[in-house]
Order: sequence, then C-alpha cells, then structure tokens
Amino acid sequence: MCGIIGYIGDKCAADILISGLSHLEYRGYDSSGVALMHGSEIDIYKASGKLINLIEILKTKKAVTSISNIGIGHIRWATHGLPTTANAHPHTCTCKSLTLVHNGIIENYQELKEDLLKEGCIFRSETDTEIAAHLIASEYGKTLDLLEAMQNAVKKIKGAFAFCAIHKNEPDKIVVAKRNAPLVLGVGNGENYIASDIPAIIEYTKKAIYLSDYQVGVITKNDIKIYDEKGKLIPNKIEYMPFEAMAISKLGYKHFMIKEIHEQSDVVRNNLQGKLIEHNKPIKLDDFKLSSSDIKKLSRIQIIACGTSLHAGLVGKYIIEKYAGIPVDVEASSEYIYRETIADKNTLVIGISQSGETADTITAIKQVKEKKSHIAIITNRADSTMARLADSLIPVNAGIEVSVAATKSYMAQLISLYLLAIYLNEAKGIKEYKEEIARLKQELIELPNKIEALLENTSEIQRVAKKYSSYKNFIYIARGINLATALEGALKLKEISYINATGYGAGELKHGPIAMLDENMPVLAILNTGIVYDKVLSNCEEARARQAKLIGVTNYISEKDRALFDDLIMIPDASDILSPALNIIVLQLLAYYIAEYLGKDVDQPRNLAKSVTVE
Ligand code: AGP
Ligand code: GLU
Repeated sequence: MCGIIGYIGDKCAADILISGLSHLEYRGYDSSGVALMHGSEIDIYKASGKLINLIEILKTKKAVTSISNIGIGHIRWATHGLPTTANAHPHTCTCKSLTLVHNGIIENYQELKEDLLKEGCIFRSETDTEIAAHLIASEYGKTLDLLEAMQNAVKKIKGAFAFCAIHKNEPDKIVVAKRNAPLVLGVGNGENYIASDIPAIIEYTKKAIYLSDYQVGVITKNDIKIYDEKGKLIPNKIEYMPFEAMAISKLGYKHFMIKEIHEQSDVVRNNLQGKLIEHNKPIKLDDFKLSSSDIKKLSRIQIIACGTSLHAGLVGKYIIEKYAGIPVDVEASSEYIYRETIADKNTLVIGISQSGETADTITAIKQVKEKKSHIAIITNRADSTMARLADSLIPVNAGIEVSVAATKSYMAQLISLYLLAIYLNEAKGIKEYKEEIARLKQELIELPNKIEALLENTSEIQRVAKKYSSYKNFIYIARGINLATALEGALKLKEISYINATGYGAGELKHGPIAMLDENMPVLAILNTGIVYDKVLSNCEEARARQAKLIGVTNYISEKDRALFDDLIMIPDASDILSPALNIIVLQLLAYYIAEYLGKDVDQPRNLAKSVTVE
C-alpha cells in the first residue's frame, strides 16, 4: 500500500528512483526517502510530507547524487510511528552498513526488538521496519553474506513485507524478499529494476518477474537470481507487462475489483494494527477526540453517507446501539440535507465516505457542523475535503481503490465501525457485554485468516454465478445485522452487471415483494446462526412455496434444511455480529463473477464514477 523502487545499472539512480516514486505518489503517501550507493558508500536522503520535499533536497545535492548507479527508494504509508523524517525509510542497522526499505507490517517486531536491544543495537526510529534492518545485519554478522542473511532473517519475521536491502560490503547487488506484499522485478539490458507496483518502472522496461511469497532474490546489473523458501535457485519466469498505466496495477488479476476483493484480509489487518492489540485490552482510537466524559453525554448519533458507505453505516447502527447504548440514525446524505434535522452539541455525527469527496455528504456535514455537533469522519482518504472538516478523523487505510464498485473500502469501514462501537462501550464503562466483546475482539483478530480461507476456493461461487447469470431479477433477503449485507450485495450486482437486484428485510417479504416471486425470480438468503436464523429459514420456506429458486449463504445448515435450497454457499464459521464481514465477500464475488461472465466492464460500469463530486 506504499511504494518501493530499486535500481541497479549504469544510469543515474537518483533520477530513476524519483521518477518511480512519483508514479506511486497518487496513493497519497506521507514521507519518502532514497539510499544511493557508490563504491562502498551509502548516502541516505529522506523527507516527511510530499515527495516534492525529497525532490527539493536532492536538487541541492545533484553533484553527489548523480554519481550513484545503485539505489533503493520508498514512499511511506505509516503504520508504526508518525510520518516524520526519522521514521521515513530507508532504515539502517547500528553501524549503517546495511540499508533497507520495507512495505508492510512486521507483527512480531516487539519481540524481535527485545533480542536486538540485548545485542546492543541502537534504534533511531519508531518503525517496525528498523527491526528488520538490525535483524538482517545481525544475521549478516554470522554469515557475511547478504543473501543468506536475508534468507535467515525472514524466517524469524512474522507479518507482511516486501524488502529491498543493500550492504556496503556487497556494493554490486540489491537483495529482495517478500511475503504478502507485492514486489516486481523489472528486467532490463545491463540494468534491472525493483518496484512494489508496475507504474513505477513501466517507462523503462516491459519485462517483469513477479516475486512470489517466501522467495528471496539477488539483483545485480546483469542478472537476477531467485531462490525459493528452501534456498533452491529457481528459473526466472519473465512476463510482459501491459502498456496502459491503469491496466498495469492489477498485478496479474483480470480486474481491479477482484484484486481489491482479494486484498481484504490485509485491509482488516492494517485496520486493526495498533488499535486492537489483544482481546483483553481496550481498543485504542487515538484519532477519536471525544473524551469519555463527552461520550457519556452523547444523546444521539447520526450516521450520514451514500451508497456502499451508507450500508456500512447500517451495520454501525446495529453494533453501536447494542454495545454503546446510544440511539443511532442512519441516513442518506442526499436526504439529510433537505429537511430540518435535530442535532446539537451532544450529538455525534459520523460521516462515512471512501473518497472523502462525495458532494452530498460534504454538504450534509457542513450543515450539521454549524450546530456544534462533534464530526467524526470515517474515510479512505485522509487528504480529502471531508477529512479536513473532521473533528475526529478515522482513516480506514484500505489503500487506493480503483474499481468503481467499492469492496475493500466497505470492509475497512465495517472494521472501523466495530472498533468504534467497542471503543464507545469501553469509554462509557458499560459492563454488560464484557465477555461478548472480548470474544468479538478475538474474532476480529482472527478475521483476516477466515477471509483468506474464504477466498482460497471460490469455485462454488463461480459455479453459482454462471448458473444464475441469465436471470434478469433477484431478491436478496436477510434480517438483523445482515440486512445491510443484503442491501450492499444487491447494490454490487446492480452496479456491475446491470441486473435488477433488490435487498429486503426477510420479514418484509410477505408485506409486498412476495407478489413478485415465481420460478423466474431467484431469492438469495443470508442466514447466520444467531437470533434471526430460524426466522430467515421460515422466510425461505415462504419463498420456496412460491417456486422461487433459493440460494443460501450461511455458516451452518442442518441436513434436513439443506434440501430447501437449490444452491448453498458456505462461509467460515462466524458469530452473527461479525458475519457481515464474511457474507459480503460472497456477494461481492457473486456480483463480480456474474458481471465477468456476462462480459461487462467490471471496473468502470456505465453511468457511474468513483468519486461523486456533484449533488
Ligand atoms: C459503491 O460501489 C458505489 N460506487 C457508490 O455507491 C459509493 O459507495 C457512493 O458513491 C459513496 O461514495 P463515497 O464512499 O466515496 O462517499
Ligand atoms: N510498517 C512500516 C512503517 O510504518 C512500513 C509502512 C509502509 O508500508 O509504508 O514504516
């Protein structure tokens, strides 16, 4: 989610690194830096803020920087430590022989740091990344070989990483490694490139080797050697990168949407980082500025949003009312604007927006701001207009979302709302749900693994998508906390396949929509074990009795109830309260595969725009 670039060849490394970083900057990063090697010297330049700050520094050093032909660069999206110059990458070991850039999160950094402190390492930043620099250097001390040092170090690291390292004693190479973070090697003539995303290097080469998880690579001017997890040299698989800038960031996926769906486990991990540490520790929300005495005074909460963000708000209502005991209204921004709304200084207004630029929501927020309510903004763009209007800014850190249909940003919004609901509960000192909340926290911690398990095998969803792709109408039903899932799933299908899909509370079916049911109207039902399971099952029976085709999405089904459904999609087991985060992935995939099967323009559906900046 941040940017890495590396170069080794005969050209001016500084120029290539800066040009590469500038192609990654559209993602809104917070600091940057480069390390330039010449002979056995490594010079490091870093700056906080926009890339232009680093460019200005390098301009004044042209005479020194232009002599280097080997370098690594980074544009940071801070996870550990503020976006300061000291925390900007590259980072070095104690004696500054080894220099490193890193994308990702080192989960066991605290544990590793303790050992490294005992070894006498001197730390200069608050980042998790610096631990890796010291660790690889420590391994280097034992082997005097950078490749081996990297291979040994990564075995000790838990978490996600793409590393690029250089060492003064081995001035002719860059060593790389990756796990759960992208890294691509650009193959040139007498020169080679490294990048976290293709736009950074596409102007120099079209030939790429995609590094896989657990691989370690050694890049020299004329060679690329890649080793597998066991240290065995493997043949290079060179692929040709497509030309257009937009198409090239899909990293092997056919569409941005499916890539973004697959990023959701990391999105959750990122979101929990630093906020939810353990199931028995309170949630930390440093960005939320209301004190606990202010929170205790809150008489109401209003959630204002549009589209997918509005659906996230509905989940928010459910969990905030339950755990924090504060009444919550959720309203489309476009409706909120044109009526007399009631809000005062004891109202918390939460604006939710992926882009932070949605005009309706901005207008609504501006209106309510005058009423002295506290404004909290949950957004994927901390640099957006809405973020600037916030009293409390809650960035969701989903990374750039290119596909018009929101997927991973919805997931990130859900996670922020779970964290906020628990935070409000804890700030108010409510004892009632203590044990349930501890279980929910543990489940949140385990959620990324469940998401990965769900995404590992999507063949059943693809089969169902193909089977139903010729239907012109769908009804999605659910109750309770998954009503939002039904609405969001139906929106996804509408947006990208142009098929009419409508979400209803399952109990509402008999109050009207049931009139539409026959064999041409498939009903998709979301059932999760919990308070409304049996009720939704009865609603499924009602639909079945009208000959509707039934698709079930569930974590459990008994043998006797199985026969009720034409098709069943199972999710990993989950509590009712957290199940929206898994069920929605099934519905995102279903929409995606139906649209893909129908040959629709998945990433850029007709009539829509990613950011709706007009009312
Ligand atoms: C999501 O798939 C849609 N494209 C759309 O409903 C979107 O959620 C809505 O326009 C709100 O956007 P925002 O989150 O950027 O404010
Ligand atoms: N976790 C590292 C940091 O906070 C890397 C962040 C990134 O991926 O940019 O510095």
